[in-house]
Amino acid sequence: MSKAANKKLYIKTWGCQMNSYDSGRMADILSPFGYKCVDSPVDADMVILNTCHIREKATDKVFSDLGRIKPHKKAMEDQGKKMLIAVAGCVAQAEGDFILERAPYVDMVFGPQTYHELPEMMAKVTGAYGENRIVNTEFPAESKFDSLPEEHLSQGPSAFLSIQEGCDKFCTFCVVPYTRGSEFSRSVSEIIDEAKKLVDGGAKEITLLGQNVNAFHGEGPDGHTWGLGQLIEKTSEINGLERIRYTTSHPRDMDDELIDVHGRIDKLMPFLHLPVQSGSDRILEAMNRKHTGDHYRDIIAKLRKARPDLALSSDFIVGFPGETDEDFEDTLQLVRDIGFASAYSFKYSARPGTPAANMQGLIRDDVASERLSRLQALINEQQLDFNRKTAGLTLPVLFDRKGKKPGQILGQSPWNQSVYVQGNERLLGQIINVEITEGFDNSLTGSIETTIAA
Ligand code: SAH
Ligand code: SF4
Ligand code: F3S
Repeated sequence: MSKAANKKLYIKTWGCQMNSYDSGRMADILSPFGYKCVDSPVDADMVILNTCHIREKATDKVFSDLGRIKPHKKAMEDQGKKMLIAVAGCVAQAEGDFILERAPYVDMVFGPQTYHELPEMMAKVTGAYGENRIVNTEFPAESKFDSLPEEHLSQGPSAFLSIQEGCDKFCTFCVVPYTRGSEFSRSVSEIIDEAKKLVDGGAKEITLLGQNVNAFHGEGPDGHTWGLGQLIEKTSEINGLERIRYTTSHPRDMDDELIDVHGRIDKLMPFLHLPVQSGSDRILEAMNRKHTGDHYRDIIAKLRKARPDLALSSDFIVGFPGETDEDFEDTLQLVRDIGFASAYSFKYSARPGTPAANMQGLIRDDVASERLSRLQALINEQQLDFNRKTAGLTLPVLFDRKGKKPGQILGQSPWNQSVYVQGNERLLGQIINVEITEGFDNSLTGSIETTIAA
């Protein structure tokens, strides 16, 4: 591909943080070819929709966005210019050929494991090899991580680092094992190198990412396989790195070493997202989660023993096939027993090709909606309660963004709460102690000493 200057690249990202990480890397790959990110598809030379297939609604949004982008492509063509449209991510992986068929103006479709081949793919569709549309949904033997560019590792104060991909758990409702393939872990030395570069580029906080991050089993510098606990310990030795987080975990991979690290490593933040999905053992079994509600309670008890101030978050699915009122009550009970600082909850969405899509006992939509709102009301109550309890505390906050109001800056507490204060922009990128004044549904307000704030 030629190195023309000043080309406009518009990337829209749906789904999990792994997709955000991937979008960042796609921009890195195209930057040496003169592509700069813009925030609208109008006049863009290249549009990439990095998609999510997890629930039906997520998939539908891709096609409605494509419909909106089509006239912009036409407008470019009317001016004698070209706009390449690419669909990437998990919808691309799952529905490659169907996308080309349904949207004839899409030029390229490629999955999460092949985007490192972007320049070659673009050369192909721009005519050099006579192909004009491509689908690339292979799982290549060579990992994309081996050929991603190493420069441009500046993501700002709070950075993501993918350490593991794919999933071998096959929960019966979930598309991820099909769209992302089987579990793969990067080597410890590769991860530490990338972490150091991120810190050199200004990162104070790194979130280690994986679809199943605590199933991490990467090659260690000693030639042995390392688990996530060991990796976190090694990462914590990086000078200048102040905070470590990881997401998303599975309860079955919460081993003693990892739990122990929560008690020993101060840089590991006291916040854990540990999806449980349901509180009913019957439903957990039908979901193939291979753990019970009590198993989850035991893990949380161990974690809280190791790190008493640990705050928890989770994911829930309501309306899974066969879920009775009693099963749903078990979920509410688990939420009451644990007490969450935040949580995501979803209505079950049947995904083509997954085992649950063929299960009997579909739950009526109005029943599922009613359960969802009851669960969300309970979670919101717990979240508000948790946020209110932080009022009066002094918390270290990592400031990384300007707020919407003039003179306002926004950062994250150790418990992942958004904290708004009045403060000078030069504080962005720093961790500053903030006295929390009030806790709300989704955020906190606070104040910093006036001499620092100014
Ligand atoms: N790897 C993570 C989660 C990946 S998907 C884990 O193992 O927990 C993020 C969340 O989406 C899941 O935790 C689940 O709550 C939800 N989800 C996944 N498939 C779904 C489906 N078919 N319907 C509704 N929610 C779903
Ligand atoms: Fe999906 Fe289950 Fe794997 Fe999570 S553990 S990605 S929910 S199959
Ligand atoms: Fe969605 Fe794929 Fe992530 S389906 S949640 S973007 S792994």
